[in-house]
Amino acid sequence: MVVLPIASGKGGVGKSLVAVNIGLALGEAGKKVVLVDLDLGASNLHMFMGIRSIKTGIGHFLNNKDMNFEDIILDTEFEGVRFIPGDAEIPGIANLKGTQKRNLIKHLLSLDADYLIIDLGAGTSNNVLDFFLISGRGIVVTTPTLTAVLNAYLFLKNAVFRIMSSCFKSDSPAAQLIEKLKKEGSPLQKVYIPKLLEKIKNIDEESHSLFMNRIETFHPCLVLNLLSDQKDAEKATQVRRSVSQYLNLDLEHLGIIYKDALQNIALNSRIPIVKYKPGSVISQAIYRIADKLLDFTSESKGPLDLQSLEESYQIAELEAEADYQSRIYYLEELLHCGGELSKGELIEIIKSQQYEVDKLKKESNLLKAKLVKAINQGFIS
Ligand SMILES: Nc1ncnc2c1ncn2[C@@H]1O[C@H](COP(=O)(O)OP(=O)(O)OP(=O)(O)O)[C@@H](O)[C@H]1O
Ligand SMILES: [Mg+2]
Repeated sequence: MVVLPIASGKGGVGKSLVAVNIGLALGEAGKKVVLVDLDLGASNLHMFMGIRSIKTGIGHFLNNKDMNFEDIILDTEFEGVRFIPGDAEIPGIANLKGTQKRNLIKHLLSLDADYLIIDLGAGTSNNVLDFFLISGRGIVVTTPTLTAVLNAYLFLKNAVFRIMSSCFKSDSPAAQLIEKLKKEGSPLQKVYIPKLLEKIKNIDEESHSLFMNRIETFHPCLVLNLLSDQKDAEKATQVRRSVSQYLNLDLEHLGIIYKDALQNIALNSRIPIVKYKPGSVISQAIYRIADKLLDFTSESKGPLDLQSLEESYQIAELEAEADYQSRIYYLEELLHCGGELSKGELIEIIKSQQYEVDKLKKESNLLKAKLVKAINQGFIS
């Protein structure tokens, strides 16, 4: 089984959209897929699948000793795809105990599937990191914004530290060094990992080699979502460079996805985008990612092949260029095709523009309210 946890540092970058739609695409390719909503405390994966409400999920399983794990696995209307819902609004479920986490991981890893896709919550809590690290091939989703890019990098940095703490025995010199750094108040975020590893190698060769063996099987991948412009694609190289230089990690590029107003219409219509408009640029981008995932094997061993790593970035840049052209071409087609638009196309354009207008209105109202508040409080005269 190929296990694909999907994470991000920052929230709202498209993890759930990617999880559901690559799951459906892999199902269409004849694979057995299980989609799991592990964004405990904020589960919403069902909405991306068009399921209105959920009655039982992981939260119930964890809170109810008499419940079988199989009872929470749902069949879906989508070919080859089963679904495990999250919490169904059980308060406090986001803070899993160690035993609950291990129990859950054991059940997940014994599922009968070709692909296990795990939608995670945003951030770098230990729960999120531990679920991400059950596989060597987790996917980090980011957008091209500065904060999202930084958070993607910080997520991976936290993952590396989590791997260290799982490799080092608590009384080892390496673990003591990390503890000392924490005590000295030097935030681990500021520690330069290659230098730290060198130090660890000098004082504790055993811990160092345990870590090196473990990190060799850690090959996370990147999806760059919500692009507006072709130039946005360059942000992937920036993430790759920082991750390689500061974390000693290779990050494979799985692909880019442009921002597309169709997604919002699909979500409101409760239809996953690859089913709503399979031929659209956004759906094709998702199918492309799923195609690459078809080459994944269940275990990741040894270092990545550097040439294919390099190529993954070149391919993604070409895809960004091609999709950009397709989007322009699509609009031109709509405007010029026989001089007329069909009723359906016209409705779609108006709907998506209406959505953008509504969003701008909301932002403008929010700004106005803030301005009025600032004036009332005397901050602005
Ligand atoms: N490429 C895209 N084009 C248009 N809209 C998108 C795209 N990707 C995501 N969205 C929209 O952005 C919003 C956030 O996406 P999503 O919920 O998948 O993010 P997330 O990372 O799972 O968020 P959270 O951290 O809250 O779980 C959703 O409304 C989704 O429909
Ligand atoms: Mg989500």
